[in-house]
Amino acid sequence: MELKNAVAVVTGANRGLGRHLAAQLGERGAKVYAAARRPETVDVPGAIPLRLDVTDEASIREAARIASDATLLINNAGISTGATLIGGDLDAVRREMETNFYGPLAATRAFAPVIEGNGGGAVLNVLSALSWFHPAGLGSYAASKAAAWALSDATREELAPRGIAVSALHVGYMDTDMAADVPADQKVAATDVAAQALHGIETGQPEILADETSRYVKQSLSAAPQPNAG
Ligand SMILES: NC(=O)c1ccc[n+]([C@@H]2O[C@H](COP(=O)([O-])OP(=O)(O)OC[C@H]3O[C@@H](n4cnc5c(N)ncnc54)[C@H](OP(=O)(O)O)[C@@H]3O)[C@@H](O)[C@H]2O)c1
Repeated sequence: MELKNAVAVVTGANRGLGRHLAAQLGERGAKVYAAARRPETVDVPGAIPLRLDVTDEASIREAARIASDATLLINNAGISTGATLIGGDLDAVRREMETNFYGPLAATRAFAPVIEGNGGGAVLNVLSALSWFHPAGLGSYAASKAAAWALSDATREELAPRGIAVSALHVGYMDTDMAADVPADQKVAATDVAAQALHGIETGQPEILADETSRYVKQSLSAAPQPNAG
């Protein structure tokens, strides 16, 4: 997909990776709707702020009505609560699934007819190396990103006949607020991840592996799981 004439909607565009994606899309000549639950916090030059909370279906519907010329949806908004699946707060587990799985699903359902009506385009889902690697300490987040991986594969097949390409971006730690506690030498630059993501959309890659961690974890998928205790 050519980005120069694209009309992009980026969720969570007020900070972190989403802000880089929105800014770089603008630099490449795309029209950008920078979606955020608090649009007054959007500061991307040239972008149009758009109110969109991915857990609020009415706000998604209204955003799809306003951004009626969209050809590209980037499902970037996400949260990480640090909840474990057994000992963690179940409300946090549900919130993570609402944001990281149902959020992209609801946005894709709302924007698919818009993108199709504009002649086709693309959806990018921002996932994680944790779609494939599921440590107990991040069990809830990993489950939500694994679900979003399945969502990416299934919607890729379902939307292809409607002229909509679906890509998934996988990455380990990035230097954003979400990974503020992670040591600097374990993080990659979000600006570089954004550039790789846009290149992946342009070249029609279904799966974009943006760092060494995600490439290693993907490659390890066929390895035997940890043995059971006892
Ligand atoms: N950072 C990492 O190490 C890392 C690694 C792999 C994947 N990811 C993924 O990358 C994506 C971007 O995260 P980030 O690293 O840029 O984190 P971040 O700096 O914490 O930014 C998260 C963004 O998501 C938005 N958001 C959260 N809940 C939302 C909701 N209900 N509706 C709309 N927007 C919402 C936030 O908006 P507010 O300002 O309103 O909170 C913010 O703009 C996420 O999907 C994350 O899971 C991150």
